[in-house]
Amino acid sequence: MLKISILGGSGYAGGELFRILLSHPQVTINQVTSRKFAGRPISAVHPNLRKIIKLMFVHPDELEKCDVLFVGLPNGAAMNIMPALMKKAKKIIDLGADFRIHSQSVFEDWYKKKHTQPSLLKKFIYGIAELHRKEILKADYVSCAGCEATVSILSLYPLVKHGLIENRIIIDAKMSSSQAGIAPSLSSHHPERSGVVRSYMPTGHRHTAEIVQELVPSFTTSDVASEGKRDDIQLDVAISATALDMVRGLLVTIHTTPKKGLTEKDLWKAYRAEYGNEPFIRIVKERQGLYRYPEPKILQGTNYCDIGFELDSRSNRLVVIGAIDNLVKGTAGQAVQAMNIMCGLEETTALTFAGLHPI
Ligand SMILES: NC(=O)c1ccc[n+]([C@@H]2O[C@H](COP(=O)([O-])OP(=O)(O)OC[C@H]3O[C@@H](n4cnc5c(N)ncnc54)[C@H](OP(=O)(O)O)[C@@H]3O)[C@@H](O)[C@H]2O)c1
Repeated sequence: MLKISILGGSGYAGGELFRILLSHPQVTINQVTSRKFAGRPISAVHPNLRKIIKLMFVHPDELEKCDVLFVGLPNGAAMNIMPALMKKAKKIIDLGADFRIHSQSVFEDWYKKKHTQPSLLKKFIYGIAELHRKEILKADYVSCAGCEATVSILSLYPLVKHGLIENRIIIDAKMSSSQAGIAPSLSSHHPERSGVVRSYMPTGHRHTAEIVQELVPSFTTSDVASEGKRDDIQLDVAISATALDMVRGLLVTIHTTPKKGLTEKDLWKAYRAEYGNEPFIRIVKERQGLYRYPEPKILQGTNYCDIGFELDSRSNRLVVIGAIDNLVKGTAGQAVQAMNIMCGLEETTALTFAGLHPI
């Protein structure tokens, strides 16, 4: 049995980790921390876990040694304490942004803060299993991807890898309120949030940095690939984020330009080649019915990433649609998937919930 602890367990991502890990037969949850709720039952914050678990929150200062530590702190809070955490656990899975970007200068440029542990950046493997399974298998430290980055990277990776699109990518992201975490703010206040379709970040979204980092190494054009000069290639990625009136879920509608002569058959071939054997990726492209394209509503609580696409010959566009539950495939589910791989367990363990319909 693996001894697991969760730092930042009173947050939304921490709560999801807890929910998922409860059905994992090869782990025991040893400690879950909260400064505000130390000494109080987990269900005081996560009411869905009532009567299922008797554990109490402990203060982060009381963290004991464990086999795997999940770190679910707000961005910027994990980097200072990471050296101390590395003494507590052999394997660490960080859910925040502090160790996602391999380059210190890129991190500091996008996050507008100094990285206090730049020497640790290279120790963390980026947590998307579909791209980094082999590295995660050998890793002690994994940094899970941002939720918008997760769904965007997964939607685009086969297209980029197979050289099917030009380098300009526009990601229109529709976001849910749980993405902002548990701490209340004016924007999460019910009269301000209810019913909104709010353009909250039309430009400058920080997840752009991760998306570029992950996609550029796979980006090929026939010219460049033959010359072997991949380092010079620039991917032009832009995100526009809109906050919607939904609690969970994330939908991206991605606009790209297909390479000349691209057919639907080429697209199916690329997606099947990359994801045919992936347990948590589904290509959703039906000819009829209500759920013809990916939709976050039916993914709530699941670890699936649904991806669909449509070629528009009139406007010479390829529109790609991706959906996930931000708190599962976008965070806690991705983290458990990584843990399963790192610890040599069956990758899908505790992650096979099929979702609800209707919901
Ligand atoms: N929400 C999402 O959809 C989502 C998606 C992808 C990635 N993530 C990432 O996952 C991480 C957690 O997100 P979240 O939504 O769960 O955040 P959250 O709801 O705000 O929870 C943060 C947790 O960290 C604890 N905490 C805050 N500052 C701390 C500190 N200095 N020392 C120790 N504990 C501290 C808080 O509890 P106490 O104040 O009680 O100690 C709370 O339990 C973030 O880095 C976020 O970027 C979240």
